[in-house]
Amino acid sequence: MPQNDTPQPGTFPVVRMRRLRYNKLVRELVQETSIPPDKLIYPLFLRSGQGIRVPIGSMPGVFQLSLDEMVREIEELKSLGIGGVLLFGIPDTKDACGSDALNSQGIIAQAVRAAKDAAQEKLLVITDLCFCEYTDHGHCGILTEIAGHADVDNDATLKMIADQALVHAEAGADMIAPSGMIDGMIGAVRGILDRNRFEHLPVMSYAAKYASGFYGPFRDAAESAPQFGDRRSYQMDPAAAAEQALREVELDLAEGADIVMVKPAMVYLDIMRMVRERFPNVPLAAYNVSGEYSMVKAAAERGWIDESRIVRETLTAIRRAGANIIITYWAKDIAAGNV
Ligand code: PBG
Repeated sequence: MPQNDTPQPGTFPVVRMRRLRYNKLVRELVQETSIPPDKLIYPLFLRSGQGIRVPIGSMPGVFQLSLDEMVREIEELKSLGIGGVLLFGIPDTKDACGSDALNSQGIIAQAVRAAKDAAQEKLLVITDLCFCEYTDHGHCGILTEIAGHADVDNDATLKMIADQALVHAEAGADMIAPSGMIDGMIGAVRGILDRNRFEHLPVMSYAAKYASGFYGPFRDAAESAPQFGDRRSYQMDPAAAAEQALREVELDLAEGADIVMVKPAMVYLDIMRMVRERFPNVPLAAYNVSGEYSMVKAAAERGWIDESRIVRETLTAIRRAGANIIITYWAKDIAAGNV
């Protein structure tokens, strides 16, 4: 007679999932998802001046930098093996059509030249291509009246997007990332690059970019908040059919995008997974945006959560959802092992 305290065959599991969790080495052996530094891109906010590091109140650890400070930052990023930087220019003066963005002596052109010098081909210098930081109204292009209200003039903006792309390319950018969600923007950029002997330059499209509350802190950093209205007439509606994101990606690929992006990251992991499955061979980037960063920072400052664990778990989830490349304000901290 079996005794009551002896395990009964069949009543205890033969297969035990815990066997592959019982110590760190065995857990690491079966890990699949990693966060390599060379897959991370670090955004930089740049302004004129010397020795300037303006802290962004809503983004602890993030600064607006003058170009000499940017160069120091790039030295550090190189030593950490970060894949690239994504440059955002903040001009001294803004106007209705964002002229500084089209100026070969403007902030973004100067920043690209200085960044390329510093990078020494050790990391990629990528430019965000948009107008919202350069226009006095804060919208992502020039305005016209559509159906009785001011709105971005799609086709007039396309022409300016092309001009801006040429400024970035001539300054030496390694890759251009149009972020305005203007219809046809990838074709416009590809066209002008190809006509000007920049056919080798890759384009990373902010392909499925949602009109999101998670961009709030970025707009402090880039000084790019719309002065009236919002961006719902060009960025995607969070409640839109998920298929719409796939159409955006498909169109951008047809226009010549080399890398496509889903943005924001954390609350759009489903979209990322769909893009990954529908386009299995296309490099996919995710933008872990400012609001995602600030929420974690704020809670960590209060001691409510453990920043390192949350950051690693978040970036792991983004990679697991299918993103190859992650643009994140934590790039440096991750690579340096600070989080
Ligand atoms: C547009 C742009 C934005 C972000 C990246 N590029 C802001 C917007 O669309 O309003 C947001 C990035 C972030 O929130 O971290 N130039």
